[in-house]
Amino acid sequence: MRVSASLSLAVLALTSFTAVSQTPAASKAQLATPQVSQVAQTPPMGWNSWNYFAGRVDDKGIRAAADQVVATGMKDAGYVYVNIDDTWEGERDANGVLHTNAKFPDMKALADYVHSKGLKIGIYSSPGSKTCGGYAGSLGHEEQDARMYAEWGIDYLKYDLCSFIGDVLEKQAPNDKAAQMRLMIAAYDKMNKALKATGRPIVFSFCQYGWDAVWEWGPSVGANLWRTTGDVTPEWDRIYAIVSQQAGLEAYAGPGHWNDPDMLEVGNGKLTLAENRTHFTMWAMLAAPLLAGNDLPNMKPEIKAILTNRDVIAIDQDSLGKQGARIYSDGEVEVWTRPLAGGAVAIAVVDAGDSRYSTHPFHLNLHKLGLTGKQTGKDLWTGKTVELTDNMPLELASHDVLLVRVDKPKGHVQ
Ligand code: GAL
Repeated sequence: MRVSASLSLAVLALTSFTAVSQTPAASKAQLATPQVSQVAQTPPMGWNSWNYFAGRVDDKGIRAAADQVVATGMKDAGYVYVNIDDTWEGERDANGVLHTNAKFPDMKALADYVHSKGLKIGIYSSPGSKTCGGYAGSLGHEEQDARMYAEWGIDYLKYDLCSFIGDVLEKQAPNDKAAQMRLMIAAYDKMNKALKATGRPIVFSFCQYGWDAVWEWGPSVGANLWRTTGDVTPEWDRIYAIVSQQAGLEAYAGPGHWNDPDMLEVGNGKLTLAENRTHFTMWAMLAAPLLAGNDLPNMKPEIKAILTNRDVIAIDQDSLGKQGARIYSDGEVEVWTRPLAGGAVAIAVVDAGDSRYSTHPFHLNLHKLGLTGKQTGKDLWTGKTVELTDNMPLELASHDVLLVRVDKPKGHVQ
């Protein structure tokens, strides 16, 4: 039995529609000038400890994750970063030097191990005095910490607002949201400058939940990626809500600076195969960082197949670096397109509901996508050639997706 979206090609209706061009609002938005970045020219790919292991991460688990990234073929598929999230931090000594806790006896040795596998290593901190997990943050020690990361050989920093809210924002600027936002931006810029001063290329990942439209100013203070929302969870409703919140942000992403709808939950919780597939598809359409967060040593083959689907990864990593946009929706069915290098286009149709059947199927309106006439493409989840025609009925399983790449689209793609 097919596990992917069931695509009904049987009825080719002849109705034609008036083309409706929907210019995404964000294309008119002001763009911050990104700083020149040597890193993250495509969205970072890797694995992060938080979504599955949370506080249970340790040296052994990171080594096992690195081993598995290689053994499962994920490395060959493009996954590079092995990122330690919160709960590695110990205490600061009299000189202000932050030590690791007992779970991480030797961070330099761990970084060397991850590097020896041809991978890169990431770490986590906060501009506040404490991280979200209550461990030591970088407040007042930014340069010192950045130098230490560089000495260890760290390649990626996730910087999570957390206690900076109570430590600084609410203390220094009570009741003045605009002043709080300026303090927040300055804190991120402080770490940006500290990282740059080390001379080591380090991906700088902002985690402040999208506050103050971070996409407008993040790149100007060194963000290579910035969270656009609160936390993801391994639940369809949350994942779909996050996808919806990305519509309109496409103008802000590009090589070196990406919107981050949070890390992947593929393989976590009780997500169905369709939901895992749609989650991964939409992160690729969104040019999102692909940071797996599952239990790699116990990964099921069908989850590995999703995470290592080269065709879908190629959409995410497309060299044009243009994020996809939601072109239209019809009730609970949404149609997104992503322009790709060489004039190609990816089309994703998501059924976020559970009530469209062959009696009243969704009909694909190619005109709205700027396409004219029959389009031949590849269904990236079945690997088969498909033909898309205007007004064709599509019957998708609940929470499933159709993802088609058209290399030579006819028309003027949105
Ligand atoms: C949250 C963050 C999560 C994780 C967690 C660690 O603020 O969004 O991704 O890093 O903190 O405590």
